[in-house]
Amino acid sequence: FKSCYKNFNFWTCKGTQTLPGENNGKQHIFSLRWDQLRENHVNLVHIESRKSKRRNSEFEIYVDCDSNHEQLNEIIQLLQKHVNVVDMEPPDNSCLPEESKEMSNVPWFPKKISDLDNCANRVLMYGSELDADHPGFKDNVYRKRRKYFADLAMAYKHGDPIPRIEFTEEEVKTWGVVYRELNKLYPTHACREYLKNLPLLSKYCECREDNIPQLEDVSRFLRERTGFTIRPVAGYLSPRDFLAGLAFRVFHCTQYVRHSSDPLYTPEPDTCHELLGHVPLLAEPSFAQFSQEIGLASLGALDDSVQKLATCYFFTVEFGLCKQEGQLRAYGAGLLSSISELKHALSGNARIMPFDPKVTSKQECIITMFQDVYFVSDSFEEAKVRMREFAKTIKRPFTVRYNPYTQSVDVLKDTPSINSVVEELRHELDIVGDALSRLNKQLGV
Ligand SMILES: [Fe+2]
Repeated sequence: FKSCYKNFNFWTCKGTQTLPGENNGKQHIFSLRWDQLRENHVNLVHIESRKSKRRNSEFEIYVDCDSNHEQLNEIIQLLQKHVNVVDMEPPDNSCLPEESKEMSNVPWFPKKISDLDNCANRVLMYGSELDADHPGFKDNVYRKRRKYFADLAMAYKHGDPIPRIEFTEEEVKTWGVVYRELNKLYPTHACREYLKNLPLLSKYCECREDNIPQLEDVSRFLRERTGFTIRPVAGYLSPRDFLAGLAFRVFHCTQYVRHSSDPLYTPEPDTCHELLGHVPLLAEPSFAQFSQEIGLASLGALDDSVQKLATCYFFTVEFGLCKQEGQLRAYGAGLLSSISELKHALSGNARIMPFDPKVTSKQECIITMFQDVYFVSDSFEEAKVRMREFAKTIKRPFTVRYNPYTQSVDVLKDTPSINSVVEELRHELDIVGDALSRLNKQLGV
């Protein structure tokens, strides 16, 4: 392989590979590379093969890919095991402008919504494998069922309809217990935005005690309300991959139901948590915007910054409280899907602090017990302003802007890219000006 540095993170590689002769060998080489590229977050832009000029029995394979230096080195090392010639020439950074050098250290991130296919399957915990202390660990029927859900999620690609599930009687019964018990608490514990949207879930997605809504219906419902869509996932994603989805208004949702032995406990997110905890608020425009802003701030950020953002996400979207009419109310999905912790957080005995990303981002996240502290915001608007200020302190040689027309992110790092945003804003302001002048005419001003 030879490579040259063409752009800030754009590489051209030239490879030479002796093929064993038959088509089988050729297929093997391509599939091998594709898997390796995906695992290493290398985005394949172009690939072509041709007869080698070096030897008649060889093929040369050219690969254009979008990656950073570190990822490319990793993939080159892997490929060295499989190809005849790998000749890696490091890029000559010295001739690059300072700005381009900075960009070469930026971790890979999805630029368009379909890029999520490259990072939505890397599940950290569970998936189809359960830990020894998981309530379903010894239940082979449950484990088989979990494998079914994990396989569905793994096979999912952007644009596919989310597979409809025929839930078993046992699963519906478990869901029913959770639904019934939580609904008793919501009127006195959930925030007003949640209470406004929950009935819509029943109306449009058949969310009832005796029916688990289908993610495809929920995704369609959310798209109409806030542009959020749902993507099925097999289990916990890394914070970076999960937050990246939010940047595109994509929410990764598990589709399996917790084990029936204890309907009021689950050590991991399940469809009860997603549907009853998250969905009603994802249907709220100000909350959707807040979630997306955390996601956008995470794109291309270094690991410690992503960790801070993930902690802020955890103490807001999962365990956040707000004050409404002088009363504490929950908006975090972890609370709104857990009877015991919802009661505890609002019992008057829990430690409550104001949400301040600088402080909140340093707090320890607790997964299997109650949180030591909960953070309260006056409103999503206030939380959003604070997150926005915090996002500005994150080290990144660029900023990003979501383009809803193409469902992609524009990387703003130079004058032309900033100018194009200014042009769009001018157009938007023209629309506002036109609307105001029409209104003035109507009012005779
Ligand atoms: Fe969650």
